Amino acid sequence: MSNFDVSRDITPVDAVAKIEELGIIRIQDYAPDVSEIKDELMSIYDHMEPNYQFGKAIRTDDPNWDLAQTPKTAAFFNSPWMREIASKYQLTQQACQGALYPESYGFQRELFSTYDFLHDQGTATQGWVHFDKLQRFKFFLNVTDIDEDCGPFQAAIGTHITTKALRAKDPNPASPAKWRFGKYCGDEGVPGPKDDARTSGLQNHYPEIEYELIPMTGAAGTLLVFDSDVFHKGGNVAEGKNRIVVRGHSW
Ligand SMILES: [Fe+2]
Repeated sequence: MSNFDVSRDITPVDAVAKIEELGIIRIQDYAPDVSEIKDELMSIYDHMEPNYQFGKAIRTDDPNWDLAQTPKTAAFFNSPWMREIASKYQLTQQACQGALYPESYGFQRELFSTYDFLHDQGTATQGWVHFDKLQRFKFFLNVTDIDEDCGPFQAAIGTHITTKALRAKDPNPASPAKWRFGKYCGDEGVPGPKDDARTSGLQNHYPEIEYELIPMTGAAGTLLVFDSDVFHKGGNVAEGKNRIVVRGHSW
């Protein structure tokens, strides 16, 4: 048990306090059985070709994922417990948001899912350590068992505090112009031959800041709840491994 591991019985008030302190919590046994969610997602994935660097990706703000096709998944992410946590946390985040906030706030505005099974594809934009340019509050469900070889999400505990200080210094705190940290502290941030170079020149804006990434591994049914201001990165799946996750974004 780490300090970011909490019980599935945690109250929204206690969950928010923990996320305010650490930036992220993990609930390892949140959903005892995600087989119905997995079946719903596979009914979409089985009928599409790989559409991104590491496999397949769908999102509800795109025609490739109609929530009506996945009622169990939609209901899972529409939980009153999640709704209370997201609003309690997120409605204190005006400094990271636009002028219309909090009037513009919306719970679980988008759901994203990825099915990663391609390895040796270099580093994607989300594979560089970063905080999200636009701050989001996220519920992240492991739909498959995710160990160190399955490209687990990695986070640096407590660094959302650092990001908020960086945002406060930026002339446009809701959307800073630069946001990448590079592959690790002190790295030059130069993309390799297979890496996604879309953010070339934007990496490693804060090379002097040190951090320690922790892989957020967990069996299927593990739930992560976090502020995307925490430094984080996605991982790469090893050969023969795969990973399916779903994320809900509120802001
Ligand atoms: Fe991100």
